[in-house]
Amino acid sequence: MFPAVALTISLCGVAALAAPAPPSTPSGGQGLNSTPEYVSMSDYDFQSLNLGLNQEYLELFLFQDGLDKFSAQEFEDAGLTPEDQSLVEYMRLQEVGHAEFLTNILGANASKPCNYSFPFNTVQEFISLSQKVTRVGESAAYGFLEHLDSRAVGSVLGQAIAVEGRQQMAFRQFAGLFPFPFWFIPTITQSMAWTLGAGFITSCPSSNPKVEWQLFPSLNATTGSNGTINGTAPVPAITTNATALTTPGQSVNLSWDLPGEQAGPDLAYNTTTLAGEPKFAAWISQLNVTYTPLTNVTNTSATTTQPDTQIYGEDSIQTVNGTVFVLVTDSDLFLTPYNLSLIDPHVVAGPALYGAG
Ligand SMILES: *[C@@H]1O[C@H](CO)[C@@H](O)[C@H](O)[C@H]1NC(C)=O
Ligand SMILES: *[C@@H]1O[C@H](CO)[C@@H](O)[C@H](O)[C@H]1NC(C)=O
Ligand SMILES: *[C@@H]1O[C@H](CO)[C@@H](O)[C@H](O)[C@H]1NC(C)=O
Ligand SMILES: *[C@@H]1O[C@H](CO)[C@@H](O)[C@H](O)[C@H]1NC(C)=O
Ligand SMILES: *[C@@H]1O[C@H](CO)[C@@H](O)[C@H](O)[C@H]1NC(C)=O
Ligand SMILES: *[C@@H]1O[C@H](CO)[C@@H](O)[C@H](O)[C@H]1NC(C)=O
Ligand SMILES: *[C@@H]1O[C@H](CO)[C@@H](O)[C@H](O)[C@H]1NC(C)=O
Ligand SMILES: *[C@@H]1O[C@H](CO)[C@@H](O)[C@H](O)[C@H]1NC(C)=O
Ligand SMILES: *[C@@H]1O[C@H](CO)[C@@H](O)[C@H](O)[C@H]1NC(C)=O
Ligand SMILES: *[C@@H]1O[C@H](CO)[C@@H](O)[C@H](O)[C@H]1NC(C)=O
Ligand SMILES: *[C@@H]1O[C@H](CO)[C@@H](O)[C@H](O)[C@H]1NC(C)=O
Ligand SMILES: *[C@@H]1O[C@H](CO)[C@@H](O)[C@H](O)[C@H]1NC(C)=O
Repeated sequence: MFPAVALTISLCGVAALAAPAPPSTPSGGQGLNSTPEYVSMSDYDFQSLNLGLNQEYLELFLFQDGLDKFSAQEFEDAGLTPEDQSLVEYMRLQEVGHAEFLTNILGANASKPCNYSFPFNTVQEFISLSQKVTRVGESAAYGFLEHLDSRAVGSVLGQAIAVEGRQQMAFRQFAGLFPFPFWFIPTITQSMAWTLGAGFITSCPSSNPKVEWQLFPSLNATTGSNGTINGTAPVPAITTNATALTTPGQSVNLSWDLPGEQAGPDLAYNTTTLAGEPKFAAWISQLNVTYTPLTNVTNTSATTTQPDTQIYGEDSIQTVNGTVFVLVTDSDLFLTPYNLSLIDPHVVAGPALYGAG
């Protein structure tokens, strides 16, 4: 540690005691001298945090459902030891804590747990879905965290989401995938997160506040990959090099619903779009949005290709790797993570989760 008292060396070499130097205080920074208020400060905060709370509950009940549905033997047959199962249980408890944090902030208006339906029949499908759902939760929170009016809440939310990112990594390792085949976590908008999450929620207490984000028409992306690597089912591992599930430049079929479908909890929402004609596939991955043109376009389907670009040129890494987000848009608007929400009015359908590796 630095000494509390500074020593001044005089010209003749005699050390003399001087008044303590003030600690370095760089100018700038925000919120350093105020008493933090851990409250929602705007409708934007409330809607973002209430979405976040719904997402935490979704994860909590997803993990619970997987633990309830499969026997210890079924987990072991999928290569997951009793300790691995305990780790999933530990992650479930982390969600309890995250939900409590958000409930404390939202107070009487906080959402309560809903009923859920998760489409998995095997341990592998459970792990794969958990890998995807935690990707959505992490990317959604990072998308709005720096836009919250309450910076204090954003700062603690970041502390929760860093844990969620570790969960996402652990599920990838359970699935035998490379733990984090990217240099940056992609961010998505609240409406994208709600579009991906709402379908798992069947019914909610009528007292729950409505989640006021847009539900886009749903989108499927078909890659031809069946989740195996060269026909071999991956086994749990800390890391493995063999994680390419798709190939850059490969053809991808997209099919989507028209707007106006009743969807979401209690079918109380309608899917909507403000966009015009479908023209591009928008790939949200790492630092930016990469667009690829659509071919063979109908009102509800098209073909495109997986981007073959690197984030910082040839010596870096592929833009698309891991589980990324793909949407159909009417425009190839240039956007970066901080202004990504400007894409929402251009979304025809999606996102779909695209497992590239
Ligand atoms: C709950 O929402 C209502 C209506 O928006 C608002 O008047 C009230 O202050 C909120 N209560 C809390 C505890 O935030
Ligand atoms: C994705 O990342 C993994 C791990 O680094 C690597 O083995 C794989 O080749 C990458 N895929 C692409 C398309 O670059
Ligand atoms: C959950 O489903 C059960 C059984 O259908 C129903 O009784 C209950 O009211 C539902 N709860 C919520 C919160 O929707
Ligand atoms: C895309 O659809 C076409 C026409 O139905 C089909 O021939 C092709 O195999 C599909 N490609 C993928 C990657 O699913
Ligand atoms: C996945 O596809 C590969 C080759 O295309 C095939 O060898 C393998 O049996 C398939 N696996 C499953 C589980 O369908
Ligand atoms: C893993 O892949 C990297 C390149 O992504 C390569 O440099 C390394 O040699 C591979 N390691 C093994 C053990 O195959
Ligand atoms: C899959 O097999 C092909 C052909 O044998 C090989 O070139 C490729 O490296 C293998 N990919 C992985 C991820 O092992
Ligand atoms: C997407 O795929 C699922 C499962 O195959 C199917 O039930 C759903 O109808 C498809 N949706 C669209 C928009 O193609
Ligand atoms: C959804 O659309 C139907 C008819 O298309 C309409 O009756 C209903 O009020 C709409 N619901 C919402 C929540 O907008
Ligand atoms: C995103 O980055 C890739 C790789 O640097 C680049 O090819 C692509 O044009 C970028 N997209 C946009 C919209 O800037
Ligand atoms: C468009 O569809 C036609 C007929 O299904 C097919 O032959 C052609 O390969 C497709 N083109 C592209 C770019 O997908
Ligand atoms: C496609 O959409 C346009 C405009 O929404 C409509 O006029 C046309 O009938 C639709 N075509 C099909 C095949 O549904």
